Amino acid sequence: MFATSSKPSTLVRYAGPAVFFHWAVVLLIAIAYAAIELKGFLPKGSAERTLSMSVHTWAGALVLVLAVPRLLWRLVRGAPAPEPGPGWMQWLGSAMHLLLYLFIFVQPVLGLLALNAGGHLVTVPGLGVELPSLVAASRDLKETLEDIHGTLGTAFYTVIGLHAVAALFHHYMLGDNTLRRMWR
Ligand code: HEM
Ligand code: HEM
Repeated sequence: MFATSSKPSTLVRYAGPAVFFHWAVVLLIAIAYAAIELKGFLPKGSAERTLSMSVHTWAGALVLVLAVPRLLWRLVRGAPAPEPGPGWMQWLGSAMHLLLYLFIFVQPVLGLLALNAGGHLVTVPGLGVELPSLVAASRDLKETLEDIHGTLGTAFYTVIGLHAVAALFHHYMLGDNTLRRMWR
């Protein structure tokens, strides 16, 4: 299974870069969620609303930027074997990790495509360079992509929540090393 592939047996904990990628992505996802939720409370057409949307798109885009080296690191260096426990628990953990890896690629790409389909180009902050559009502008496509992006984003509140609860359960109830080895 994915999370135990590569060279698990030689590692006892996640290496520094894996820990950095994990928590940097957690922070960026939290910012992306907070910004899009805040946007809903701000008056239409206000500068604050536009800023919230920019923060959302840029935190989200950075998730994708970090996801690439993160996955490469994971494929080359592997991960520690799961802490001892029943097979179903280890399988569930691996399945959850696979879903989360998919999410950090698919969700930002859907967001980018939705913006492009809406006729907007993404400009790199500070450089003023516009990224080329990946799809032709189309109202129907924009709405479909936004729907999928929104539904996935909402569904992942639950998936991320379950993943975090599982980590805390391992730490406080099972008393194993799962959280510590992803901490520092
Ligand atoms: C992992 C990163 C991301 C997460 C977790 C995320 C999550 C979300 C969520 C929860 C919504 C609200 C959906 C709703 O209320 O229906 C949303 C809306 C949206 N997101 Fe993202 N998103 C991410 C990345 C991106 C990126 C990279 C872009 C574009 C570059 C983007 C563009 C959009 C757009 C255009 C909307 C619709 C905004 C609106 O309703 O006015 N997102 N996103
Ligand atoms: C915000 C979204 C999050 C995402 C996208 C995410 C993603 C992931 C992924 C993909 C892995 C597998 C790493 C690998 O094997 O290469 C992982 C592991 C882990 N995550 Fe998260 N995570 C998130 C939030 C959290 C939170 C909030 C916590 C703690 C409360 C947490 C604790 C852990 C722990 C302890 C591991 C290591 C599990 C093990 O050793 O089997 N994660 N996470």
